[in-house]
Amino acid sequence: MIDCEYDYFFQLVMLGDSGVGKTNLVSRFVSNRFTAGSVSTTGLSATPHSANFGESIVRLSIHDTANPNRRGALKSQFYWFAKGALAVYDISDRESYSNIPNKLEELRKELRLGSSFPITLIGNKCDLADKRVVSVAEAQKFADENGLMFEETSAFDGSNVTKVFRDIITRMI
Ligand code: GTP
Repeated sequence: MIDCEYDYFFQLVMLGDSGVGKTNLVSRFVSNRFTAGSVSTTGLSATPHSANFGESIVRLSIHDTANPNRRGALKSQFYWFAKGALAVYDISDRESYSNIPNKLEELRKELRLGSSFPITLIGNKCDLADKRVVSVAEAQKFADENGLMFEETSAFDGSNVTKVFRDIITRMI
């Protein structure tokens, strides 16, 4: 397949605190890999990926940074062509969950979002059940009240990872 042959091009942004597992969710989806103790993403990471949806080829650029709120070029590159977002917290880290509303607010301000912009709330590290501090019910309620899709995932064992990416891409097409 020639790289420039595609039917759709989308930019998908990953939001969430440092350490919640954004990088590993992307690498699990794109190359089925997990890295224990990975290094913090600095600057902007843009991972290209192509996927088939029925007859169509979707080309994705998955943008990941712990800090999209820095001013200047990084910020505009991060959001420029965004067509969807995954807002990630760690089910074993309450602060990462508490920071989600601010991150969504910033995204909405930056993009002047309409209600059709798909956002999935992701509770990652669901393999760490014994360390859970955010319940499914609490996150589901927040998602319902804010028009978000919601799933728990594990980049570690792969649970639901492909599903969340494919679901949001389906909403972007
Ligand atoms: P920044 O690059 O700093 O923004 O962090 P990040 O959100 O990209 O997190 P990263 O993917 O680097 O993961 C942070 C740490 O959590 C690493 O030690 C990972 O191995 C670990 N981790 C990521 N996802 C999971 C998961 O689903 N389960 C478990 N148990 N650990 C995970």
